[in-house]
Amino acid sequence: MLSKKMEAQLNDQLNFELYSSYLYLSMSADFKAKAFNGFGNWMQVQAQEELVHVMGYHYHILSRGGKPVMKKIDAPETSWDSPLSAFSEALKHEMIVTSRINALVKLAVEESDFASSNFLQWYVSEQVEEEANASEIVNQLKMVGDSKQGVFMLDRELSARTFSMSLIPGGMPAATQGA
Ligand code: FEO
Repeated sequence: MLSKKMEAQLNDQLNFELYSSYLYLSMSADFKAKAFNGFGNWMQVQAQEELVHVMGYHYHILSRGGKPVMKKIDAPETSWDSPLSAFSEALKHEMIVTSRINALVKLAVEESDFASSNFLQWYVSEQVEEEANASEIVNQLKMVGDSKQGVFMLDRELSARTFSMSLIPGGMPAATQGA
């Protein structure tokens, strides 16, 4: 059974992950509208991954006797000045997600909620990857600078990313989560 405090904070994070998906969908739209289809693809896959993150919280909260509550989601920006500004914002956003997850882990430990602590470890590991991925692209964009050819090559490279998460956090197969 979740404490009321833990249930509320897991719900906040569920909704923040929805906002993350919303943010990346908006970045994807902006990139694709500007013919940066590779960057747009990368952001679209990121948005899909965020929905899987959402489902992890949804599953965990329900499994522990709580109830997921969908809240109003803020509208993200709709346009970015450059690929570098969008990916820099994505990195900054992921650093905020990491600090929020760290706070959740801290609460789980304080409450001796070992099931939540164990569940959240998936997100702790995932955030290392999330920050590293965004950071790598920010660094590459800084390296190519104003080179149109460099940006074009990077855009092409990121068109190869595909969505492939078969399990939601907590271990439930993504394809049968409604069963
Ligand atoms: Fe769900 Fe990108 O953190």
